[in-house]
Amino acid sequence: MESLVAALPLGGAAAAAAAVGGLLAAAALAGRAGLVGPKNNGSNAPPAVPGLPLIGNLLQLKEKKPHQTFTKWAETYGPIYTIKTGASSVVVLNSTQVAKEALGEDVSSVYVEEFGKVISKEEIYQATVVDMMMCAIEVDWRDFFPYLSWVPNRSFETRVLTTEGRRTAVMRALIDQQRKRIARGEARISYLDFLLAENTLTDEQLLMLVWEAVIEAADTTLVTTEWAMFEIAKHPEKQDRLYQEIQEVCSNEIVTEDHLPRLPYLNAVFHETLRRHSPVPLVPPRFVHENTNLASYDIPAGTEMIINLFGCNMNKRDWDEPEEWKPERFLDGRFESADMYKTMAFGAGRRACAGSMQAMNISCTAIARFVQEFTWRLKEGDEEKADTIQLTTNRLYPLYVYLTPRGRK
Ligand code: HEM
Repeated sequence: MESLVAALPLGGAAAAAAAVGGLLAAAALAGRAGLVGPKNNGSNAPPAVPGLPLIGNLLQLKEKKPHQTFTKWAETYGPIYTIKTGASSVVVLNSTQVAKEALGEDVSSVYVEEFGKVISKEEIYQATVVDMMMCAIEVDWRDFFPYLSWVPNRSFETRVLTTEGRRTAVMRALIDQQRKRIARGEARISYLDFLLAENTLTDEQLLMLVWEAVIEAADTTLVTTEWAMFEIAKHPEKQDRLYQEIQEVCSNEIVTEDHLPRLPYLNAVFHETLRRHSPVPLVPPRFVHENTNLASYDIPAGTEMIINLFGCNMNKRDWDEPEEWKPERFLDGRFESADMYKTMAFGAGRRACAGSMQAMNISCTAIARFVQEFTWRLKEGDEEKADTIQLTTNRLYPLYVYLTPRGRK
């Protein structure tokens, strides 16, 4: 049975992506922050994997696939255990149930005092992501004439300050909801609990750290996945190739992140989508701090610099037929599969995207699952509907596709 559906409508799917992205961001950042296990060695601590004095379990983890060692240990020590990596202890979680407990449940609504009402998941996403993104592309003419910065621009200021106020109110409400959970004695091993336990952060720092993970992960990943599905629905022969690859590697298993290294065409689909549809088309502006020579031109200190990632990714000198969506271009042996910077989509240099791996994991798993379950066909006449809106390249026109279940057993 085939039915025409508007795939990934902004709202539900976006909120879902935000939730997934947010949770994964939390997990990744918690990892980066060095989230460590309980310091007390009381009887209720998770079992410890025996290791050597001083270095702990480091020698047992020296091979490149720690997740396999972790899984093996789980058979002996259970779904949650502690390992010692040198001087610190790390708690390893190996079951979905424990991991969900640690990462927290999906937030479905929250009471916002400033609004005097409970708001839904969609409204949370609107206030914390969509509206803030729209603000980022508001133009303040005073930016172009800094010597007139003293002139009020009331409509701009009101719009930006109101949006920021709403974002702050919603984020505060979300954080307070979690504080109450902790006060009820339901503390978890999670990014937010870790930040709250720090006790050294101001409320504003805390809010920004949590919000950053949401704003950077949600929309970018959603947009990439949606463009990939547009191209896949538009190119049946490439969709077949992807489906065949998934079938060969996964057979009847559901695609998970563990399969991704064995799915090179999927990887190429992801990177080609990033190239062709650069989700963040312009990098946040940089200031040139010193007189600089760039491409043999002199650039004086104080100049603002905008890098057009879309332009880099569509440059005819670098890419053969850049207008075409051709995942095969990444399989000609010139690119490393694991290289996240095949294109400029994640930026470059010291401020390059901190979540590129996470974005790949979320987006590739979603694309593969969509293709594993359904045959995708674009609505007739929509082939050229590739216009975009907003700061990230959201589709101007909703994506309409015919989905036919593949009837996987
Ligand atoms: C396909 C999805 C994504 C794309 C295309 C993307 C792209 C970018 C780009 C272009 C930048 C600016 C780089 C620069 O200024 O040079 C950036 C920064 C950043 N991204 Fe992503 N991003 C994605 C997903 C994510 C995810 C899932 C996270 C996870 C939290 C994330 C976290 C960040 C952070 C923290 C920064 C700021 C890095 C810094 O300023 O030092 N991104 N991203």
